Amino acid sequence: MGLVVVSGGTNGMGRAFALGRAERGDRVLVLGRDHARGAALGGASIDFLPVDLSSVRETRQVVERILAEHPVVDALTLFANAVAPRRIVTAEGLERTFALYYLSRYLLGLGLRPALDRAAAPVIVNVAGVGVTRGGVRWADPQLESGYSAVTAQLQAGRANDLLGVGFARRSGSRARYVLYHPGFTRSGDRSPLPFVVRGLLAAASLVARPVAAAVSPIHGFVDAPPDAPLTAVDRGRRLPLSFPTLDPRDADRLADLTERLLTHHDC
Ligand SMILES: NC(=O)c1ccc[n+]([C@@H]2O[C@H](COP(=O)([O-])OP(=O)(O)OC[C@H]3O[C@@H](n4cnc5c(N)ncnc54)[C@H](OP(=O)(O)O)[C@@H]3O)[C@@H](O)[C@H]2O)c1
Repeated sequence: MGLVVVSGGTNGMGRAFALGRAERGDRVLVLGRDHARGAALGGASIDFLPVDLSSVRETRQVVERILAEHPVVDALTLFANAVAPRRIVTAEGLERTFALYYLSRYLLGLGLRPALDRAAAPVIVNVAGVGVTRGGVRWADPQLESGYSAVTAQLQAGRANDLLGVGFARRSGSRARYVLYHPGFTRSGDRSPLPFVVRGLLAAASLVARPVAAAVSPIHGFVDAPPDAPLTAVDRGRRLPLSFPTLDPRDADRLADLTERLLTHHDC
């Protein structure tokens, strides 16, 4: 039995994973916004911590709360994401997809490191899109001030998560194993912000999508028996070589520097 933190555990794959860990006897901390869905998870072994993970301030606060209440964290699993058809800027001045899908994962992983390092076999699983070669980090315009689209923002933050895993394994000095996992097209995902036509197309396509339980199953494996290697990348069941072009260590270093600069510049 261990303590598992699930960011974005109120819905979709994160919810299914959180319930699965509780069934296995783990204590689970679910992070998300939706109070009703958080409360509905119920059960003595699941605690809901309400937080807007697109806010750096709130994410840092929830990290402090977890560290204060739980000296040991065995697994950190990262699911939170949301599609924004139009560019949204957070109160802290950051493009929201970047802040939510990437920055919250950066802050949670590095912030919870002391508690992860006290666990017997700590692991971080970052559920995103490793293996996707389209798109990338817009080094000159990471806040996507020009040419924003939902897809561009998703691909940028997805790549940033790939590089986050590379950078964490190389630079953090943590004992936690890092797993980048791409679940493939799955019957989950909040489509309510999308235009009607896109929602219809996705609903039709989801007939061939993976069931949530199948997409989540390997994540239980990563948590039950963390890999030996500091970094593992799995794209829909296929293990990727760490020489894969999207996992370039120089890009990871560049992103780590850019992230610290952004946090300083936005005073958060
Ligand atoms: N579904 C797919 O086909 C697919 C394919 C490839 C990769 N992925 C990746 O897999 C991960 C999980 O996807 P999913 O389909 O399970 O997503 P989902 O069903 O839409 O769930 C997203 C979760 O993120 C939380 N969330 C969204 N905005 C938040 C915010 N501002 N603060 C805190 N929590 C927030 C939601 O909780 P609240 O509503 O409570 O805020 C929810 O628990 C994502 O990273 C996604 O990119 C999905």
